[in-house]
Amino acid sequence: PLPIKIAPSILAADFANFGAECAAVEAQGADWIHVDVMDGHFVPNITFGAATCAAIRPHIKGVMDVHLMISPVDAYIEDFAKAGADVITAHIEAGPHIHRTLQAIRGAGAKAGVALNPGTPAQAVAELLDLTDLICVMTVNPGFGGQKFIDMSAKIRTLRDMIGDRPIHIEIDGGVDPTTAPIVAEAGADVLVAGSAVFRGGTVSDPAPYGANIRAI
Ligand code: DX5
Ligand code: ZN
Repeated sequence: PLPIKIAPSILAADFANFGAECAAVEAQGADWIHVDVMDGHFVPNITFGAATCAAIRPHIKGVMDVHLMISPVDAYIEDFAKAGADVITAHIEAGPHIHRTLQAIRGAGAKAGVALNPGTPAQAVAELLDLTDLICVMTVNPGFGGQKFIDMSAKIRTLRDMIGDRPIHIEIDGGVDPTTAPIVAEAGADVLVAGSAVFRGGTVSDPAPYGANIRAI
């Protein structure tokens, strides 16, 4: 099995303290920091944009993993790359030109991720594998934290077979907790995003629960 990385989503952190939250959760053992950008158009909720990502960046030592739930995407890629995103993930459902979008992300110097909503089949990425560094399998319909896990194990297994020996991460996003994490890890995922299951019970001034929560996943 692949080494598992835990990527806490700051969607479940204190929005008034993102810098301190990122530093605290990294100190507690987070591997990557997952940053959920929502536009109120592609998804029915609004979070924040590239300026906030740039403000957060100096507080993260490791990988800043930016998940764009926006449409259109292409006009904003440069902004998120300049903001210091290491990984920029766009949704295949966000427009007709995901191939161009992935090229543009790599062209801007970031790792390129493609996200699939629960209703989108694994085969949708078949022509994208050589342009992709990460495939994000959504295990909720995107837009909100704290939703119930939708089992996408069959899709994950299919993707693992399609990927073969290419160096592509399979990331899982939505409803990951100590009960669901083993299911997706067993199916072949290696990056687990978790919001509520990491940040519950802790604060920036009392971050020890973050560490316990990460270890429990
Ligand atoms: C959903 C977001 C997720 C979400 C995960 O639209 O992309 O990253 O924050 O939150 P939990 O872990 O609470 O399901
Ligand atoms: Zn996300």
